[in-house]
Amino acid sequence: MGEKPKSNIDEIFDRYLDAETKIFRNRDVLSPHYVPDILPHRDNKFEELAKILAPALRGGAPSNIFIYGTTGTGKTAVTKQVLAKLKERAESRDLAFKYSYMNCQHVDTKYRVLTQLCEDIGIDVPFTGLHFDVIYQKFKEALDELDTMHVTVLDEVDMLYRKSSESLYVLTRMNSDLENSKISIIGITNDVNFKETLDPRIRSSLSEEEIVFSPYTAEQLNDILAQRAEVAFHKNILEFGVINLCSAVGAQQHGDARRSLDLLRVASELAERNGDENVTELHVRKAQQVIERNTVVEVLTSLPIQTKAVLQAIFMGEGKSEEITTGDVYKIYSKICKLVRLDILTTRRVGDLINELDMLGIITAQVISKGRGGRSKRIHLTVPHKQVREVIESDFRLSKIFEMKEI
Ligand SMILES: Nc1ncnc2c1ncn2[C@@H]1O[C@H](COP(=O)(O)OP(=O)(O)OP(=O)(O)O)[C@@H](O)[C@H]1O
Ligand SMILES: [Mg+2]
Repeated sequence: MGEKPKSNIDEIFDRYLDAETKIFRNRDVLSPHYVPDILPHRDNKFEELAKILAPALRGGAPSNIFIYGTTGTGKTAVTKQVLAKLKERAESRDLAFKYSYMNCQHVDTKYRVLTQLCEDIGIDVPFTGLHFDVIYQKFKEALDELDTMHVTVLDEVDMLYRKSSESLYVLTRMNSDLENSKISIIGITNDVNFKETLDPRIRSSLSEEEIVFSPYTAEQLNDILAQRAEVAFHKNILEFGVINLCSAVGAQQHGDARRSLDLLRVASELAERNGDENVTELHVRKAQQVIERNTVVEVLTSLPIQTKAVLQAIFMGEGKSEEITTGDVYKIYSKICKLVRLDILTTRRVGDLINELDMLGIITAQVISKGRGGRSKRIHLTVPHKQVREVIESDFRLSKIFEMKEI
């Protein structure tokens, strides 16, 4: 009996496995979760942070630190590494040192922050039910008992401040409540205007020290990519110019290492999936389209339902006539709301939502008249219609509209 014929699926998997050996030597180093031990071009930030935190090794309380810089400039990576090193050092010298790292996109209420802090020093708190003051007291007492130096990292701290400025105030004042232990706060943000919006009392205590992460230049991004590429790929897989192109794009996007690394990863995955033997500039260009598309879909998907309804109204309006105005959008929007049983917001609120969509770059809204009915604007979708449709179709309430005839 001969060999069983291979199914298409087998062939796909075979091709994938062959390609893996052809292109990637170690694809993990390109994963968004991988952080190399050495971060090129960040020695000086490493040093700045280490110098401020060093007093912890002698039992002193380091100053609170405010770190800012645009996205993808290594703030999170550097901070985590310095703290891990500091902890290692403290342990080898039998010094009491603890730290908590939290991302305030998820840990965004004073309750969550305190619960996380408690968990990190090993005390259990019930998920809900306790009053904030009670948890605060619990944490304070437990920390004091440990007689330790504690560093709390609040990454994306602007998210926490927006929802609960009080927790930031409480944390930055905590030392005056502690008797044996000491706590330092590191707040990180990529929102360049955040500092101005801070309550002056919090600003002065949070930013006792400041570290600014400047955008990477194209040359620096080149080195960062070259370091990864050397481990990730077999020899001579990358066509000349691929790394340069990925770094140039990252440099244009506010010196963003994440964007450059994403491009290199997606480009090489595209090459692999295609069964190609090299990664070329063409793959990078295609990867750029894929990434941009994904960002648009991500932004649209995360819009609140009312904003999505407005977006749907714009989408449907554009399908019907060449030029649509705020008035047209409102009419369609009201119909949509009736049909899917959403509250109908006032024209003013819908105007605000239209402005928000404009600010996000999803539409353009140009003032055309200031008649009796207030300002009217001409509206255009600036993102591909296909993606808008795709996102609305994945919303179980709004998707129904596409099946209805009466609109
Ligand atoms: N100097 C560097 N060397 C190598 N990789 C780096 C370097 N800087 C950043 N990276 C990588 O780039 C990505 C983004 O870095 P990181 O998450 O630290 O940025 P960030 O400044 O915290 O951005 P955000 O403000 O969006 O949170 C990570 O995958 C990180 O490993
Ligand atoms: Mg970060």
